[in-house]
Amino acid sequence: MVETVNIPPAEQRTRAASADRSEISGFGHAHAKVILMGEHTVVHGAPAIAIPLPTLLARAFARPYRSDIDSRSLSDGHFRFVAGSADHQGSGPQIAVEAAMRQWGITESAVEVIVECDIPVARGLGSSAACAGAAVRAVADFYGKVLDPGKLYDFVQCGEQVSHGRASGIDASAVLASAPIWFHQGVARPVYFGVDAALVIADTGVPGRTDHAVAGVRRALDRDPVLAERLIGRASGLVHAAAIDLAAGRAEPLGLAMLDFQELLFELGVSSPEIENLVVAALCAGADGAKLTGAGMGGCVLALASIDSAPAVSAALRCAGAVQTWTVHPHHIC
Ligand code: PMV
Repeated sequence: MVETVNIPPAEQRTRAASADRSEISGFGHAHAKVILMGEHTVVHGAPAIAIPLPTLLARAFARPYRSDIDSRSLSDGHFRFVAGSADHQGSGPQIAVEAAMRQWGITESAVEVIVECDIPVARGLGSSAACAGAAVRAVADFYGKVLDPGKLYDFVQCGEQVSHGRASGIDASAVLASAPIWFHQGVARPVYFGVDAALVIADTGVPGRTDHAVAGVRRALDRDPVLAERLIGRASGLVHAAAIDLAAGRAEPLGLAMLDFQELLFELGVSSPEIENLVVAALCAGADGAKLTGAGMGGCVLALASIDSAPAVSAALRCAGAVQTWTVHPHHIC
């Protein structure tokens, strides 16, 4: 074991159950994230706040590449790729691993990586970055390389630039972070989540394409520089205010700021009828605020609710069509 990765006991059990241990020589994991506020405008220089979701994991296993390995037995949500061979699929995780191998000077060796991802794909929860982070960690473990956090972020970002078209870096930071982060122009720092409330995440069931959404926003902003200046300025103000409310433990204004940010994302063209429907359902069930999270045009909605009202908000979201919900208490992640 080369890199310092704290694997909790439950995860160790998952690791043992997930693969034939006799064949595995490298292991890594990373987790999902939600963006509390600032998606899209973060690509254009405004700050954003993201929260890690340590219970939703991507796990990766690295083993020596053998051309005779039968890969057909992989189940849903799991995939494999070979890095360091001519087998170029060009997925984000593969690009991240190959960037790492190039940097380590590994050119004469191929490694097979199997990724088991519990994070729903294309739902704004950071699955591509988490899979890349897990894969790079597994391959580092396999080759006995020490990974410093900055380099790991850089490798994941190489993959993210492909998945997002142009990636701000917030996903790469948040899926590797152990606490909520403030992210601005490529730099992340911990932010205090002082609001004793729950976040209820609801999956619309509709996949969103981050690269399409990012490109659409770019076109809208390029078309109208006055609108761009107004929206980026407004976004920046809302995120700064949100950080102050977070630190002060004020749920109500934070919820209202989330609603304002949702309006801004609507104006940018990345909301959808399914998202709007879930936002209304969360508010009717007593949430303080709700908005899409991640790239939008599908994906997930994030609602802020008191600990007492979170079960009702979650139930209302499912009633309104959410295919899955998760409730987290970020106050406890700090
Ligand atoms: O890929 P998603 O849905 O987690 O969204 C990433 C956040 C964006 O702001 C839309 C893109 C970026 O790179 O910041």
